[in-house]
Amino acid sequence: MSHTQVLGTGAYRPDNIVTNADMEKLVDTSDEWIQSRTGIKTRPMTIDENTSDLAYNAALNAMADANITAADLDLIIVATVTPDYQFPGVSQLLQKRLGCRPIPAFDINAACSGFIYALDIADKMLKSGTYKTALIIGAETLTKFADYDDRNTCVLFGDGAGAFVMGRSTENKIKSIITYANGDDQGYLKMDGYPLKVDFKTPKQARPFLEMNGQEVFKFATTVLPRIVKELLEDAKHTIDDIDIIIAHQANKRIIDKAAKTLKVDAHMMFSNIEHTGNTSAASVPLAIDEAIKTGRLKKGDRFITAAFGAGFTWGGAVIEL
Ligand SMILES: CC(C)(COP(=O)(O)OP(=O)(O)OC[C@H]1O[C@@H](n2cnc3c(N)ncnc32)[C@H](O)[C@@H]1OP(=O)(O)O)[C@@H](O)C(=O)NCCC(=O)NCCS
Repeated sequence: MSHTQVLGTGAYRPDNIVTNADMEKLVDTSDEWIQSRTGIKTRPMTIDENTSDLAYNAALNAMADANITAADLDLIIVATVTPDYQFPGVSQLLQKRLGCRPIPAFDINAACSGFIYALDIADKMLKSGTYKTALIIGAETLTKFADYDDRNTCVLFGDGAGAFVMGRSTENKIKSIITYANGDDQGYLKMDGYPLKVDFKTPKQARPFLEMNGQEVFKFATTVLPRIVKELLEDAKHTIDDIDIIIAHQANKRIIDKAAKTLKVDAHMMFSNIEHTGNTSAASVPLAIDEAIKTGRLKKGDRFITAAFGAGFTWGGAVIEL
């Protein structure tokens, strides 16, 4: 049976860095509140680059890292909740911009868990034998949907994109992948879509904003994150001693710290870059993995767990050996 592997990773963040002091000018907040409740100090916020621009640059970096060209790509999957357009998808814009021949290219929406879903789909499509090399990307410009009158949410988010090039492998490098959803019928974390027409009159569209019940989402996240890690260990027939580092979705440093306590693992084992990224939704996991690799926290041969959770509610994770 054929296996899959990560051939290269890449990241891209906008240059515009917004500090907590900048946020203090927009809403009634403080650097002390943001840092102590979330761990965030700065976040990149796009000014003039849209999601496909971030995704394109992350893709180029991942392709250079994997030493491949656009001609080698057989498949593109982009996880995003903030595409440039309703359609065409970011993936289809990328297929053209990267100069690929016609290949399957599609977007998926599983909110902050989206990149894990993309990994799962690509893994299975590669294993089918039809495709050899896949580009998967998590890319978001969530800050364009933040409500800058709502201090509960607008301080939390950042923009960016992270990418993997994946290929087939004779060795079993991706030990386990899990993905789940359990519908959030209470609307604890949501952004409204386009309203339905009434009497065939075009509705005046209110601009949608991201809305969140922070405490309910916090409860969900702190419950599900340790559960993902435990299930992955069981599925991969590993113990925590087989794992070098855990790279969770960067939503809040307190969620990561609480998971470390529940799992009884050293805080140092939990990678965190939220301090300078904020919550970048589907981009969070690949951005963090790329940063762990590029800063030497993750090396060739290391084995790590990645785990994500988000709106939907969705969650998932993977055990990966580099
Ligand atoms: C959003 C979050 C940081 C808020 O932290 P919290 O400790 O739960 O804070 P609370 O919601 O209880 O609010 C406490 C107080 O801080 C205030 N507050 C909220 N945001 C604030 C801000 N940016 N600056 C200052 N005060 C703020 C609230 O108004 C509240 O004031 P009150 O007590 O006078 O009513 C936290 O709930 C969280 O991280 N939730 C999960 C979010 C998440 O991960 N989302 C994405 C998942 S993918």
